[in-house]
Amino acid sequence: MSPHPRPTFRYLGHSTVLCSLPDGQRVLIDPWVGSNPACPAAAKELERVDALLITHAHSDHFADAVEIAQRYRPRQVVANFEICCWLESKGVSGCVAMNHGGTVTVLDQLRVTMVRADHSSTIADGKAMLNGGNPAGYVVRMQGNYTFYHAGDTALFSDMQLFAELWRPELAFLPIGDVFTMDPLQAARACRYLGVRKVIPIHWGTFPMLTGTPAQLRAALEDIGVNCEVLALRPGEEY
Ligand code: NI
Ligand code: MN
Repeated sequence: MSPHPRPTFRYLGHSTVLCSLPDGQRVLIDPWVGSNPACPAAAKELERVDALLITHAHSDHFADAVEIAQRYRPRQVVANFEICCWLESKGVSGCVAMNHGGTVTVLDQLRVTMVRADHSSTIADGKAMLNGGNPAGYVVRMQGNYTFYHAGDTALFSDMQLFAELWRPELAFLPIGDVFTMDPLQAARACRYLGVRKVIPIHWGTFPMLTGTPAQLRAALEDIGVNCEVLALRPGEEY
């Protein structure tokens, strides 16, 4: 158990995570819920969403952003500048635009830093593909210092070592599916760079082409002698 208060994390499948804060407020990371084939029907009713964090604009992270923002009216919608401009053009309010390296305060209690992700980001708007800005991950620090990292979609990069030096995350959400992101071999190195004690694999199993598995990640961690617990949540499960 962490000595510091931490959120409860409900994995909604693919890269979507619903964080319930100790005061009952909820932060949704990557709004792909209603149209997410990995999300169980029973988990699609979110009750409340007080803030949205968006890693990038690909539809498997972003398809339900406007609908969720209109339905739950989150106080803050955090995303890069380009995504915020687009969301505002669709009538979404509360947008907090930022970019890599910046930190904002969310719900008066979270320090949210946008970090690099090695990936791409395009907004599908009807038939048009618009510039979705830089893809990102987020380092989230709570009052009391509990810190977690959601990598979004990314390849491995060695600057993850700096996240350990700067923020010491205890938990990372890392993609392991391969093809569009890291595979389990690379994700194991990411765990070493990040110095995390726990990892929750994301972006796996949703489609047949995403072949990386939590068992492969466990084996890869063992191979390189990294002591990091793999929490293989199934969609709908909580940590
Ligand atoms: Ni993507
Ligand atoms: Mn993706």
